[in-house]
Amino acid sequence: ERSSNVQTRPPVVTIMGHVDHGKTSLLDKIRETKVATGEAGGITQHIGAYHVKTDRGVITFLDTPGHAAFSAMRSRGAQATDIVVLVVAADDGMMPQTAEAIDHARAAGTPIIVAINKMDKPSADPDRVLNELTTKEVVSEEWGGDTPMARISAKTGEGIDELLEFISLQAELMELEAPLDGAAQGVVIESRLEKGRGPVVSVLVKKGTLKQGDLVLAGEHYGKVRAMTDENGQRIKSAGPSIPVEILGLPETPAAGSEFLVVTDEKKAREVADFRTNRERERQLERQNAMRLESMFDQMGQGDVSFLNIVLKTDVRGSLEALLSALNELSTDEVKVRVISSGVGPISESDVTLAESSEAVLLGFNVRADATARRKADSANMDIRYYSVIYGLIDDVKAAMSGMLA
Ligand code: GTP
Ligand code: NA
Ligand code: MG
Repeated sequence: ERSSNVQTRPPVVTIMGHVDHGKTSLLDKIRETKVATGEAGGITQHIGAYHVKTDRGVITFLDTPGHAAFSAMRSRGAQATDIVVLVVAADDGMMPQTAEAIDHARAAGTPIIVAINKMDKPSADPDRVLNELTTKEVVSEEWGGDTPMARISAKTGEGIDELLEFISLQAELMELEAPLDGAAQGVVIESRLEKGRGPVVSVLVKKGTLKQGDLVLAGEHYGKVRAMTDENGQRIKSAGPSIPVEILGLPETPAAGSEFLVVTDEKKAREVADFRTNRERERQLERQNAMRLESMFDQMGQGDVSFLNIVLKTDVRGSLEALLSALNELSTDEVKVRVISSGVGPISESDVTLAESSEAVLLGFNVRADATARRKADSANMDIRYYSVIYGLIDDVKAAMSGMLA
């Protein structure tokens, strides 16, 4: 083993907050003003992770969704991170996911910096925000507490320099370090299946340096890093601690939140991957058995239980997970929602076949059906429904459920 030289690393900052309070706008503004962008190819390579150079050094940001359904994603965001920036819209104040984000940050032991956003709006009321936050024991430094709070506008850019200053100061206090050398380790932020490229996996390196050609084990899968790109889609050859990258070369999409590490022994990698695959398969069988038993009991108990079967495909693992947990909560005593099959990637012929044989509705979230699947669905007279917002899908499933009762 090589000796690893420990160095200061950039802070990883997760942006959290209630839906539409301006998290992505804030990141856009920071990137616009702080990144010398060489935007590549016109294709969006959105991985929700960015690093920017400020006067005080590099900061890495993770964006998270604010909608209620993405709780697991936010929880992971809080854990993968050094600092949470909590965005609260000054015209809206503390809302349910503001409070939830505070809980996630506390549970992960992560310090919070508050960004009171939308200060450009005439209806902005920052004092109200300060007041409301005290009810969650988040008290501003201005009021004798220990939480830095910046008043900002993601629209005009006001206050953003101060926010970056707060982040850098907090990072300096934390003395963040990581070995630069040695086998890379980190966490999978997101993964998706892309036409022509295969599985594209966004990872955040935590230790060591990840290089093209490295053999990587991530969740249940392993493979050689064939190519790496940064968040702008630019090809890179290596990435050190706190740097987010997209990698190509894994045979399948690992779950968001999986750990990844570089291994040297391919045989070991295969053993661990096989072990994890078998364990996952066993869990799946257990779930299916439990489902089967449940429906058997339901049918024995009252003859009038209906089942709404669903086949679901999504663009990324994170949205798949969010949708599965949201769907899971919809079942009632009269109608049970059963996800027969789910996965990441375009809707394929086998999805149509499965939906047809199990009389399931076929749903695509930010994905389309490929040509063969479309032809098959057409000839089977089957409807494929497409969605781009999570609550649109959930509302339709609810409507289908009540239709079954009618
Ligand atoms: P989710 O990811 O869906 O949770 O939303 P978000 O928190 O990322 O919010 P987003 O950046 O999508 O902004 C929501 C809306 O607020 C958009 O219409 C923005 O243009 C607007 N907005 C964001 N920041 C500001 C601001 O500082 N001032 C004003 N006036 N509008 C803003
Ligand atoms: Na939004
Ligand atoms: Mg957003």
